[in-house]
Amino acid sequence: MAPDPGRYSTEPDDARAYTAANDRMYSRLARVYDAAVKILPAWRRWLSHALPEIRGPRVLEVSFGTGWLLTRYAGRFHTDGIDLNPDMVAVARRNLARAGVRAELRQGSVEALPYADSTFDTVVNTMAFSGYPDGAAAAAELARVLKPGGRLVMIDINYPRDGNRPGTALVDRVWKPLGDLIRDVPALLRDAGLDVDDWEVGGWGSVHRYLAIKPAEGVDA
Ligand SMILES: C[S@@+](CC[C@H](N)C(=O)[O-])C[C@H]1O[C@@H](n2cnc3c(N)ncnc32)[C@H](O)[C@@H]1O
Repeated sequence: MAPDPGRYSTEPDDARAYTAANDRMYSRLARVYDAAVKILPAWRRWLSHALPEIRGPRVLEVSFGTGWLLTRYAGRFHTDGIDLNPDMVAVARRNLARAGVRAELRQGSVEALPYADSTFDTVVNTMAFSGYPDGAAAAAELARVLKPGGRLVMIDINYPRDGNRPGTALVDRVWKPLGDLIRDVPALLRDAGLDVDDWEVGGWGSVHRYLAIKPAEGVDA
């Protein structure tokens, strides 16, 4: 059963103000966020669902936060990462150095990724898409940097398909009040030209893993 479209968030009127407020929060909470990811087994379990789907040789993680997931896979690939918040980037750099893992990390926005078209075999994006103020623009940019045949592996919040109460309550009473924008992610990724599979991987069906493949050249969508 698909969620009622009326439940989805509308995009914020002022995208810049929305992003600036989130960015201030991440600067204040970068260290706390780092500790929370390390302490909360559920969070790590949710993120870990991305790992089996990552293929190289070129991997990009967009919005890596404090970099916990990067420490789990970046050593096996030629890995780049980008995140908007400089304090999160600094904590991630420290975490990677401690783990002895190399990745090319930089500060920047999903709205203008500083990479050429068709560069990456995999783009990883976890618990971040619902914090971007323009879902269609972000999806288009994530798709742009994928090679034909490449894959976007995304973990994010959405309604449980069966409408169960705890999962729906988590979305409506926790994620939305925290400012997350809950969207029809499969539809947005399809509009960006990707073929999408969607699994519920936690939070009573409110945490989803999307595997979105960019069709190989010459293949009709
Ligand atoms: C909830 S955290 C998720 C971090 C990590 N991926 C995880 O799963 O724990 C969201 C991250 O998205 C980043 N972010 C927010 N807006 C962004 C943008 N426009 N471009 C790139 N990163 C952004 C934030 O700085 C933050 O590190």
